[in-house]
Amino acid sequence: RARRTALVRLSRTLRNIERRTQRRTVVAAALIVDRKVLVAQRAMPPQLAGQWEFPGGKVERGETRAAALMRECCEELGCQVAVGPELGRGPLADRAELVLFHVSLLPGSPQPRALENQDVRWLSARELEGLDWVGSNGRYVTEVTARL
Ligand code: C5P
Repeated sequence: RARRTALVRLSRTLRNIERRTQRRTVVAAALIVDRKVLVAQRAMPPQLAGQWEFPGGKVERGETRAAALMRECCEELGCQVAVGPELGRGPLADRAELVLFHVSLLPGSPQPRALENQDVRWLSARELEGLDWVGSNGRYVTEVTARL
């Protein structure tokens, strides 16, 4: 019994170490339709409120990046997407990494719309300039613009 308890404790410790050292991946979508890209304005947390980002979120355990992005687009925008090529990546706080993908609407998908207390807008290349971006999102504007 003592050995069992020690093993349980050890596995819990290992899981915690894994959690702390693992690189979290945040995936984001450059959803492009008719030479415009969809950007979302954050309402939460307060320090990011009002800033714009490419919609997305954290990849969960055991989930592929593409699956995570499809899930996030469904949850946040109510639409079904096909995930295309990677457009860029870069570090976020807390050992996390942001990976941006070119994404398109699947035929027959509902139009994307704001769901989670956020505003969404379709912007042209020119309108992307000078936006107040969340964190490093603004770094990908050149890559995204090249696809519009
Ligand atoms: O959207 P969510 O809160 O799950 O995002 C997790 C973290 O990733 C947040 O801290 C957010 O600042 C960051 N993020 C980002 N750019 C995005 C999406 C998320 O920097 N396009």
